[in-house]
Amino acid sequence: MTTLAPGQTIGILGDGQLGRMMAIAAAELGFKTHIFGQEKNSPAAQVANANTIADYTDKVALRKFASSVDVVTLEFENIPTDTLNFLSPLIPVRPGRKVLEITQDRHLEKSFVNSLGVPTAPFANVESLEELRQAVERIGTPAILKTRRDGYDGKGQVKINSATEIDKAWETLGGKASILEGFVPFELEISIVAARDIHGNVATYCPVENRHKNHILDVTIAPANILSTVSEHATELATKIVQNLDLVGLVAVEMFVARDGDVLVNELAPRPHNSGHWTIEACTTSQFRQSIRAAAGLSLGDPTAHSNALMRNLIGDDADHWNDILQHPEMSLHLYGKTESRPGRKMGHVTRLFPLNVPPKV
Ligand SMILES: Nc1ncnc2c1ncn2[C@@H]1O[C@H](COP(=O)(O)OP(=O)(O)O)[C@@H](O)[C@H]1O
Ligand SMILES: [Mg+2]
Repeated sequence: MTTLAPGQTIGILGDGQLGRMMAIAAAELGFKTHIFGQEKNSPAAQVANANTIADYTDKVALRKFASSVDVVTLEFENIPTDTLNFLSPLIPVRPGRKVLEITQDRHLEKSFVNSLGVPTAPFANVESLEELRQAVERIGTPAILKTRRDGYDGKGQVKINSATEIDKAWETLGGKASILEGFVPFELEISIVAARDIHGNVATYCPVENRHKNHILDVTIAPANILSTVSEHATELATKIVQNLDLVGLVAVEMFVARDGDVLVNELAPRPHNSGHWTIEACTTSQFRQSIRAAAGLSLGDPTAHSNALMRNLIGDDADHWNDILQHPEMSLHLYGKTESRPGRKMGHVTRLFPLNVPPKV
């Protein structure tokens, strides 16, 4: 089992803001980073030691990348599994192919979660209009149709409020292999970031509440305002998932909390997560350092929060107000170095700390 020492190089597949914050954390621990991505002057490449711009299927570039790094990790779960198959014999890849196969496909993901005895919304695999009709009959409405692959920030999903909307929903998603999910009338949405090291030790961050705007994460409130019994139960579920994924690295577990305190798992992300950005300021070990420690084969750090926190995303034009934000000395501003602002694009985030006994004010 490969263990890295400071000075060695961590390869990161993907070049967005998560890769950027992973590269910064790696530098803090004395590691070098090499980003493999598609974009020139990407958020991650701006802060890394080396950068390869190539397609994930470019075997020549992948071989060269593998020979220039000591371990490979990722900031993006939709890396083609063939890329990991190609890299795996050449270099340790953490997390590995099996984890990506599961988390790239909503049907495999939810089936895996249920196989552990962990509940999700009721769901059905849907590969034709006829199967969608049968699924709506079984699950009822309202329901949400989601493409099995490639969805994010609410893209690739459509709500079905009544049976009359079935044909339109199927058309909207372009007839792609999908799942139909029962709509969960949740009280709040929470997530837990869990880490696992090469020896199987697990560390979990506290559950946080996530509020969305236009299907994009708007604010994260740490910790979530839930009963301690619910918090402990959610943490047990996240621990079970990370252990059974047999993963080295991080997994973020998104969950719904029902009014009666029931917890259902919504989705998994095998990497640092937007809802974990608050850990940079508020925890002994941030999620980014934790992901680097795990990838490097090192022991995990303490995930304990020394403060409560509120994290707000800066989407599109929000980031134009960077100077106003800087007028508030209690705010920690993070910008991702994206030159082009687009509606819905994550440009940065702001974190504000609160004492442990003070609930964050939204
Ligand atoms: N079954 C469901 N019931 C109620 N709301 C849902 C359900 N599935 C998703 N949502 C809402 O849509 C958001 C995005 O769905 P999600 O499955 O997390 O996809 P992604 O984050 O990849 O776009 C969730 O955070 C939640 O607010
Ligand atoms: Mg989600």
